[in-house]
Order: sequence, then C-alpha cells, then structure tokens
Amino acid sequence: MSSQDNSENLPSEQDPEHGSVERARDPFADPGLPPHKPRVQDIDEAAARRSERVVAGLFMLSMVATVAFIASFVIFPIDKIVYIFPFGHVSALNFSLGLTLGVALFAIGAGAVHWARTLMSDEEMSDERHEIAAPPEVREKVMQDWADGVRESGFGRRKLIRNTMYGALAMVPLAGVVLLRDLGTLPEDKLRKTMWAKGKALINMNTNEPLRPEDVAVGSLTFAKPEGLEEDQHDFQTQIAKAALMIVRLQPENIKDKRELEWSHQGIVAFSKICTHVGCPISLYEQQTHHVLCPCHQSTFDLSDGARVIFGPAGHALPQLRIGVNSEGYLEALGDFEEPVGPAFWERG
Ligand code: FES
Repeated sequence: MSSQDNSENLPSEQDPEHGSVERARDPFADPGLPPHKPRVQDIDEAAARRSERVVAGLFMLSMVATVAFIASFVIFPIDKIVYIFPFGHVSALNFSLGLTLGVALFAIGAGAVHWARTLMSDEEMSDERHEIAAPPEVREKVMQDWADGVRESGFGRRKLIRNTMYGALAMVPLAGVVLLRDLGTLPEDKLRKTMWAKGKALINMNTNEPLRPEDVAVGSLTFAKPEGLEEDQHDFQTQIAKAALMIVRLQPENIKDKRELEWSHQGIVAFSKICTHVGCPISLYEQQTHHVLCPCHQSTFDLSDGARVIFGPAGHALPQLRIGVNSEGYLEALGDFEEPVGPAFWERG
C-alpha cells in the first residue's frame, strides 16, 4: 500500500466518530511517508544501463578473483617469500590467497549494494498491522477440538493405559543416564587425593633436589613437588596440577593460626600452590605482610593466618600440607592434604 493510501486511512479531525477522539489520545500526528523522489536511474534508461554494467562488472571481478585464488594454490610454492611494500617479507601463497579471496568477497558485496541502491525499487511499502491473536470463535473451536480429542482418546477413562504411559515416559530417560557410563570410568576419589603421602620428601622444583629446612630462607618463596614425580612421566601435568606446593619460612611467633603452627616445621609452612578460585598457580609473595597473590583475579591469602582469603573471589583458604623432617634431615610430608585442593567445587565445608 502506498503513502497516499496510508494517508487516506488517517483519522480526520472532521470525523465526529473517530478523528477528534484519536487526535486527543495521540497528540503526535502520523507524519506519513515523504513523497518518493525518483533516482536518475528511474528516469534515465542510459543511467540504469550504466549501473547494470557496474554491477555486472563487480560480479565478474569476483569470478576472476576466485579463479586467481584457485590458481594461487598451483602457482606459489608454500615456502616462497616475497617482498611487498609496506608489509615487508611475506609468504607469497598466503598473501595471494588472502588478497584474491578478499577481492572476491568484497566484489560480491559491493555489487549487491550497488544493485540495491541504484536499480531495485526504492519505494517505501506500508501495510496494516493485524491482530496476532486468533478471533474468539477460532480459539473456542480449537479448545472444543482439543476436548473432543481427549474424550475420544479415552485418556481419562482408560486409567491403565494412562498410568503405564506415565511410567514409561518417566523411565525412558534412565537409558540416557546409563549411557553416561560411556564417558569413562568414574573418577572415584582421584580428584580428592594428590601424590603427597606420609614420608614423601619435598623436592625443590628448580633444582630437583630434596629440600632441607636450612634451604628455605626467611622471606623466600620456594615451589616443591612430591618425591617420585618426574617431568618425563606421562601424567606429570595431571599430578603436578594437584600436588604443586608453595613453601615459605615465617617466624613461628608470627604464625597466628594454631593448626598452621602445629603443621609447620620451625616456621616453615607448606601450602597448595593452586588457587581456590578457579585453579591458577599462585606465584606472588609479599614477604612483609606474608600475603600471596593469585595473578589471575587477585585473590590474596594470608600465609601467617592459615592462608585465609583476605581479598578477591576465592572462596576458601589454601589447603596446608603437614610437614616434618625425616631421619636424614630432609623436609617430608606427614600425609596428604586433608581437603581437596583447587577450586571450590568440592565445597569442603
Ligand atoms: S584463579 Fe586465583 S583468583 Fe581466580
């Protein structure tokens, strides 16, 4: 429907039944559509033909570029390097593939836009908006059909069928639950345990040597792994992701948490290096405050107070490993962590 048609439908101020009422309700009168201005192509056939040739030329350019793209595969060896200003030395194959594909896609887009702007009809179209809801009689008929269908199916009368159908529908998802077994063996307590165990020596991750208490200086941060875990093991990453340890020496009188003091050795404390937020490795230690900071989201833990969270999104303190010294004078674990390490999924409570 055209703009003229539209304006005919507008309420008139003289219309005693509609016009004055509508105007009072909506103080902003519908301005209607501006008059259509013909383009040069609408009135000049020669101009229209020129536009047609431009559009066809762009589409042909796209075809040529596509052929050039395919030819580039054949022509350029993969290791051919060329100098192209201002990019410098680049792969001839990559450059030509990128250039030709770019031109092919751009020419299609440009041709389509030019076609739409110069040759396709640019007259505004308008239409009445209709009610989305069906008329009441149609809705009534649908509800009646539904009720008839339910009655004829005997759904309410044949209780045996209805109840067994409910049972079948409730049970069929169980088949999917059983299929979950195919995702692999259950993790059991693998995620709750680490390699640490009573008697495992603490190995310095930098030197790969067992640590003695005198190796841990006040104010330093040392990273350790369990004895027996070597980097060339196939499961090294899996194990170190749970067992990585952070060792710090504090003055025993500075340790505020009683359990932390009991689990330390001469002020040397060992905590999990895995952040309890989403598991990043913690690596920044501030020796004056005894705070460690996770670089991922800035969770901060106080190592002098049970590694409790003092800032950031982490939900739990870092788990502590109980340590002592073996008969040869090396630091050793006195057991595994007593809670799962890492993110708070486990809700150790
Ligand atoms: S992973 Fe450490 S703060 Fe997010």
